[in-house]
Order: sequence, then C-alpha cells, then structure tokens
Amino acid sequence: MKKRIAVLASGRGSNFQAVIEEIKQGKIPATCVALITDNPGAYAIIRAEKAGIPVTIVDYSSYSSRELYERALFSVMQRDDADLFVLAGYMRILGNAIVRSFSGKIMNIHPALLPSFTGLHAQRQALNHGVKVSGCTVHFVDENLDGGPIILQRCVAVQDGDDEDTLAERILKHEHECLPEAIRLFCEGKLEIIGRTVRIL
Ligand code: GRF
Repeated sequence: MKKRIAVLASGRGSNFQAVIEEIKQGKIPATCVALITDNPGAYAIIRAEKAGIPVTIVDYSSYSSRELYERALFSVMQRDDADLFVLAGYMRILGNAIVRSFSGKIMNIHPALLPSFTGLHAQRQALNHGVKVSGCTVHFVDENLDGGPIILQRCVAVQDGDDEDTLAERILKHEHECLPEAIRLFCEGKLEIIGRTVRIL
C-alpha cells in the first residue's frame, strides 16, 4: 500500500526534488499528494508543477496574524489527509496545535548534527563554533525547535578554508540522500518512536 506524503517547502526545493526523483524511480512506496508553501515565489512550486504535484500556497504575508496563518495551514494539512508531512526547507516554525495533532507524522531535515546548531544559518553557526565535523539530521517534529526524535544523521568533515556556502553545498548532497531514505523507512513502516529514540526495524 502506497503512503500519501505531503511536502512543505519555502524556497529552492532541492530536497523536495530529491524526494520526487526517488518516488518516480519507485524507491519510496508513496505518492506525493501535495506541495504546500508559504511563499508564492518558491522555486519548489515550479518543481511540483513539472512533476504534476498539486500545489497549495498559504501565503504567509496575506494573513494579519501568525495565528490566522497557522489556522489556514492546519486546515490545508487536514484536507490533504497525508500519512506523512515532510518539511523540506520549510522556513517557519510550526505551531503547537499542528505539531500535536500530527504527532509522529511530521519530519524535518536540518543542515547540522542536532542537537547542535538549531534554527537558522546552521552551517554558519557550525563554522563560527569551529567544529571539525558537521552534517545533517532528519528528525520527527515536536514542540521544541529542531528538537524531536532523530531518525537519521550524516557526518560531513569541515575542511580548511570552508565558508558557509562550500560547507552548505557539501552537506546538501548528504541531505538529498538522507531525507528520501528516512521517508522510505517511514513509508515501509520501519520507524518506531520510543520516547526520544527512533528504532529502525
Ligand atoms: C536545506 O539545507 C535544509 O536542510 C534546510 O533548508 C535548506 C533547504 O534547501 N532546512 P532546499 O530548499 O531543499 O534546496
């Protein structure tokens, strides 16, 4: 049985594209039923259109408060009736009402080895801290910023002379493998959440 997945993205959408490709190749037993974006200018919209994936724009700037935006987003997410929501470069913090009602059904990709360097500019934070190793993390979403149970992580060595862009580019290559893999495991029913730990069956 194929799972229904919906992707939330705010920008370029290269992780979304990696997921589209793996679904197309039959590596993930899923149908992507929706792209949801808060940004009408997101390149992810073009990627969805090319792949024949329905797009819903919940334009953050057209709501007078965060609460009203969240309510609109919530009803779109309910409508999509997805088994899994994937945050692939979704650049906003999901409200607690959404997180609670889709508990265990939302995953996020973050460009650092969590719990280090949460929030924006994770690669810059890692360089500024002088770490020798960074990477990416796919995790379930809970009420804490980038804080939910970790599904997969990949390490990337920091090289002499790295700047934010070169490090981000090397991490991104791993993101493009890690995110589809985590989605595949979820869709195959191979992820079990036990407290803070995700067991891969
Ligand atoms: C990625 O680095 C992702 O980890 C972060 O935002 C970036 C999105 O890139 N959350 P893209 O839109 O998938 O190309």
